[in-house]
Amino acid sequence: MKVLLVEDEESIAITLGDDLREAGHEVTALADGTLALRTLRDQAFDCVITDVRLPGVDGIEVLKAAKTARPDTEVLVMTAYATVEAAVEAMRCGADDYIQKPFLNEAVVERLRRIGEYRTLLDDNRKLREDLQGSRGLPGIIGDSRAMQDVFKVVRTVAGNDASVLITGESGTGKERIAQALHKLSPRSVKPFVALSCGALPDTLLETELFGHEKGAFTDAGRQRKGRFELANGGTMFLDDIDDMPLQVQVKLLRVIQEREFERVGGEETIQVDMRIVSATKVSLLELVKQGKFREDLYYRLNVVPINLPPLREREGDVPLLVQHFRRLLGGGRNFSIKTDVLEAMSKYTWPGNVRELENHVAQAIAMAGSSRVLRKEHLLPVDKTRRAALNPSTDLMPLREVLVDAERRHIEKVLKSVGGHRTKAAGVLGISRKVLWEKLKDYGID
Ligand SMILES: Nc1ncnc2c1ncn2[C@@H]1O[C@H](COP(=O)(O)OP(=O)(O)OP(=O)(O)O)[C@@H](O)[C@H]1O
Ligand SMILES: [Mg+2]
Repeated sequence: MKVLLVEDEESIAITLGDDLREAGHEVTALADGTLALRTLRDQAFDCVITDVRLPGVDGIEVLKAAKTARPDTEVLVMTAYATVEAAVEAMRCGADDYIQKPFLNEAVVERLRRIGEYRTLLDDNRKLREDLQGSRGLPGIIGDSRAMQDVFKVVRTVAGNDASVLITGESGTGKERIAQALHKLSPRSVKPFVALSCGALPDTLLETELFGHEKGAFTDAGRQRKGRFELANGGTMFLDDIDDMPLQVQVKLLRVIQEREFERVGGEETIQVDMRIVSATKVSLLELVKQGKFREDLYYRLNVVPINLPPLREREGDVPLLVQHFRRLLGGGRNFSIKTDVLEAMSKYTWPGNVRELENHVAQAIAMAGSSRVLRKEHLLPVDKTRRAALNPSTDLMPLREVLVDAERRHIEKVLKSVGGHRTKAAGVLGISRKVLWEKLKDYGID
């Protein structure tokens, strides 16, 4: 913090000033009230510590000036035993706390540490609120990149109407998040947001889950049960992994969209529903249409507004913002700072698992940091190559950079093996210096 220390007693000014600097604060020490007033006019401080009795004007005037200049400046007033009245007066004039002399410097340092922590929390809170309400973002969604700003624009534009939205994007890109934002920004936000993954249930169960059933519709149907469509009435129905919907359910969904009505399984009564349908998929629905696995008419009904979420590697500049977002979200009230090289490393990585993978990474780093409040490179778990391969089932779909990196690593391993692990020889064969080879071995984690 930027601290202004106003104290004419030299021994206190020097030792307390030193201890505060030692604790990481930037301290300006003055011995005169008038000078303090002038300084407060030109400079902003996070915290002012002032004695009451001072040459020039007294500490109460310094306190008032500090609070006038910047109401959120924390002011601590130092008073002597004999002057309880002064302490009361100081608190009445807006001091945040007082310190009775004589005091231990450590106690003051500790008090400032807590103030600092509190201020960072307030600051984080404010930023979070801005993220939530900000015109640049959407509720709970971070993204300053051009690609995401374009997405936000579409979401804001269509949130107000009832057009069906089809959200596409790789795993972990935030499809469900966007669906929720669409709901929250719509007039339907007072009614339910109901989500169901079409891939999570066997075909027959999916049907009863969506449409509900009447008593006795099948052996286990002891009583009538409402389906998700009925529960979503007035609100938004989110159909996740819509590509997994079997053809016989697709027909029924088409009718729901066209007629806004349906019957429960085993029932005769026609039920009216009013809902917005938002669906999501990781695969190309059009491709499934061509293969005859997805109804073309349904595809066009669902895809009135297409929203494609770009993979994280295409959102320039968003990784550090997301890291900070998750640091605040997952820090459990603890205030972590993050080393720049960590942010750099994270910005370079290609994130095949997108935002979800990044979120996991930050959670792991926080866990690895233990009691330390600084996230360093050594807290990042090495990116597991096999997991990366699993997330990218086909190398045909790997980004060029990863293909090159992968090929390089494998070639180095092969050469090293053929020269019996002799590094100088390997460097010679590879046509690179020993130093470069050594760095690559370290990067790739090759022993
Ligand atoms: N832009 C974002 N800002 C903040 N958090 C995000 C953002 N995008 C995604 N997340 C978070 O990342 C995680 C994954 O998001 P979500 O579940 O919406 O992805 P998805 O595309 O539905 O993934 P899948 O295809 O695997 O179902 C969630 O915890 C979500 O809160
Ligand atoms: Mg999802």
